[in-house]
Amino acid sequence: MGLLTGKRILVTGAGKGIGAATAILCAREGARLVLAGTTSANLERVAAEIHAAGGEGRVHQVDVADASAVRALLEFSISELGGLDGAFNNAGIDGPLCPTAEYPEADFDRVLAVNLKGVWNCMRYQIPALLQAGGGSIVNCASSLAEVGQYNMSAYCAAKAGVLGLTRTAALEYGSQAIRINAVSPGVTETSMMTTMMDANEGLREVLVEAEPIGRLASPDEIAEPVVWLLSDRASYALGTNVVVDGGYLAK
Ligand SMILES: NC(=O)c1ccc[n+]([C@@H]2O[C@H](COP(=O)([O-])OP(=O)(O)OC[C@H]3O[C@@H](n4cnc5c(N)ncnc54)[C@H](O)[C@@H]3O)[C@@H](O)[C@H]2O)c1
Repeated sequence: MGLLTGKRILVTGAGKGIGAATAILCAREGARLVLAGTTSANLERVAAEIHAAGGEGRVHQVDVADASAVRALLEFSISELGGLDGAFNNAGIDGPLCPTAEYPEADFDRVLAVNLKGVWNCMRYQIPALLQAGGGSIVNCASSLAEVGQYNMSAYCAAKAGVLGLTRTAALEYGSQAIRINAVSPGVTETSMMTTMMDANEGLREVLVEAEPIGRLASPDEIAEPVVWLLSDRASYALGTNVVVDGGYLAK
């Protein structure tokens, strides 16, 4: 038996990075999956890896900032999986690096639309599906930057702090109805989001590694582990919490 045997799980942003690693681990632990994201080719690649290992993953393209597209994603998930037991709301973007007063308004709006409203869009259609199933687990992807500020990342930090607010509030509202809603906060993780930023800014990798008490960056697999635990029944008393997996960054 895997940790998620028999569970029907939706993962957003599943085409690469943390979402892909989590989808693959969920499948290995016995879940049947819907993989959602913006880029079909990436999603199909992850689905092929899951199928090759004997798992099940259906692909659906979505922009989580678009409420009607998220509603269609939930209809697809329920019809393909026969219901829903859990979700990892992971899709996110970083936005440009820019001081607060100079942050381009369109980028500010887009980062909030994807990283914060996107999580709400997902939860507002997932919660009725989980109530229908008699309960379930939602994990929202926040960040260590939900808890502290970071130079030139005002929109990102504001959105991720908002994800914690949404998570805690929804957890209070639905916890007594067997829906556990929690957050995971990764530290700097080796995904294209970060490698693109590090490649564009000479010396940034060294600065980021230096800031991590553990002395290195995370691999996506190291973030997937606590997500799978929170999605599983083994996390039965975890509600409204934020599992920080950041190599000690916030411990300083
Ligand atoms: N990498 C890090 O250091 C780090 C640290 C803390 C938190 N996070 C968070 O982890 C999550 C995953 O990031 P990652 O590092 O794997 O990045 P990534 O860029 O490798 O992957 C992000 C995924 O989200 C998808 N996506 C982006 N916008 C979307 C949208 N509007 N609708 C649907 N899908 C969308 C992308 O297609 C991609 O598959 C994000 O929420 C990110 O903020 C990442």
